[in-house]
Amino acid sequence: SLTKTSGTSSRSTSQLGRHFHHRTPGNFLDPEVRAFLEENTEVISSGNLTPEIRLRLLTPRCRFWKERADLWPFADPFWAIYWPGGQALSRYILDNPNIVRMGSVLDLGSGCGATAIAAVMSGASHVLANDIDPIAGMAMVINCELNNVNPFPIAIKNITDTKLDKWDLIVLGDMFYDEHLADCLHHWLGKCIKMYGTKVLIGDPGRPQFTGHSIHRQLHKVIEYSLPEPTRRENNGLTSSIVWSYQP
Ligand SMILES: C[S@@+](CC[C@H](N)C(=O)[O-])C[C@H]1O[C@@H](n2cnc3c(N)ncnc32)[C@H](O)[C@@H]1O
Repeated sequence: SLTKTSGTSSRSTSQLGRHFHHRTPGNFLDPEVRAFLEENTEVISSGNLTPEIRLRLLTPRCRFWKERADLWPFADPFWAIYWPGGQALSRYILDNPNIVRMGSVLDLGSGCGATAIAAVMSGASHVLANDIDPIAGMAMVINCELNNVNPFPIAIKNITDTKLDKWDLIVLGDMFYDEHLADCLHHWLGKCIKMYGTKVLIGDPGRPQFTGHSIHRQLHKVIEYSLPEPTRRENNGLTSSIVWSYQP
């Protein structure tokens, strides 16, 4: 099995995975996992729509990018990519801070945490980042540090299974990539809007699972961004990303 070649540990990556999964999901600061993530990601601040946010991401220069992807010891690292939908939302929030200022914001499916970080930078009073992947939680703590942003609370769970909370704004970047998930989100967001009048913004680069979904008939286009070349290359020909407002 693959053995770490540097750092303080000589555990194999598969042992590392087991080690982490025995810990409570709330323990985001496991030093060994943190060292592993820092060793196997790269700090990026260009090639996307928000160069003012620094992020640890998987890049072609990282050893797990292609040939060793199957040896990655955790769940698929969706958090290690800054998706076009999240990029558009973050750009929009940074350029229009009044959208979040003094309000509460839920970033559902936060991944690397960039959109939650944009909300904090733009003056939101309360931000919650939510993902189902505990490693995303760790990555978000590291990314907050990189941007000198106070870490926001992070909920690792399927929030659509829990009771509704009141949010001024819910943002979802690239979350409509799976039909079942899209149905759940559609239903749950509708309830939030009905109960609390929550504003919902969705970022998406035109994925068929999104444009073909029934939610699409209830959206209003807010803004469209042309994607930078490196993001286009990583996303198989997608050229723009749109922020939509969901108003059933
Ligand atoms: C395509 S990525 C988008 C990440 C980020 N919003 C962005 O735009 O860069 C989807 C993320 O949603 C998370 N996810 C999937 N199902 C979820 C659920 N039911 N609740 C919360 N997060 C979920 C995944 O773990 C992943 O980090």
